[in-house]
Amino acid sequence: MSDSPANLIDVAKINQDFADKRPKELIKHAIETHGKIAVSFSGAEDVILVDMATKIDPNVQVFCLDTGRLHAQTYQFIEKVRSHYNIQIELMSPEQAALEAFTKEKGLYSFYQDGHKECCGVRKIAPLKRKLTTLDAWITGQRKDQSPGTRTEIDLCEVDNFPGAGEVLYKYNPLANWTSAQVWEYIKIFDVPFNELHNQGYVSIGCEPCTRPVLPNQHEREGRWWWEGGEHKECGLHASNIIGKG
Ligand code: ADX
Ligand code: SF4
Repeated sequence: MSDSPANLIDVAKINQDFADKRPKELIKHAIETHGKIAVSFSGAEDVILVDMATKIDPNVQVFCLDTGRLHAQTYQFIEKVRSHYNIQIELMSPEQAALEAFTKEKGLYSFYQDGHKECCGVRKIAPLKRKLTTLDAWITGQRKDQSPGTRTEIDLCEVDNFPGAGEVLYKYNPLANWTSAQVWEYIKIFDVPFNELHNQGYVSIGCEPCTRPVLPNQHEREGRWWWEGGEHKECGLHASNIIGKG
């Protein structure tokens, strides 16, 4: 195990070596490679990352971006995951002064008028960046099938555009090549707890005001920021999906 920023990783080789391997093998490799690594857990079906990672290292770091706008069911689910796996979950809050200035000026629902970028910037991106500066690598639940507009090119391992603790920040997407059906098969087989909202027609789950259930045959991404339309719906957590790989 090494923390050394000088210890650069051959990303192309990892993508080749793990192309046909199971997600948990990549998670194991990532945890063994990086000292400062954490799972980024959204409170949705990416709970399977927590399941896999805690089987490898019961003390693995897990964090959630607590935007303050998650559904009550998601908060309850985060608590359930905390006790089910007997882990700590770090809840990253927005910076107080920035949030107060933003809500004072724009209120609580400005995203319906002028788009989600500003609110996501304060509630998600700034806290994420704060966390990432402590890490050499993070593990996300992104999948290619989640967004035809922005995620079809994601790799199992990437160099991230955000600054990390060292010279390079690595991002692992162990579920990149899995389908939603495979995720749900895993949840069933291993009896993994899941967010109650999935029983109510929600597929992709983000913040409460910006997420709604989808109709049969609607793509899961259509339930996110639905009023904005367009195919390139990303909140900025995964900026490299839009602005190219670093
Ligand atoms: S988002 O960018 O549109 O919000 P999405 O909901 O598809 O992302 O989730 C993809 C992955 O991004 C998750 O599996 C998780 O790793 C990370 N992620 C998204 N939202 C959060 C959150 N609130 N806290 C921590 N990680 C998150
Ligand atoms: Fe704000 Fe909606 Fe972004 Fe959540 S998803 S941070 S409520 S704009």
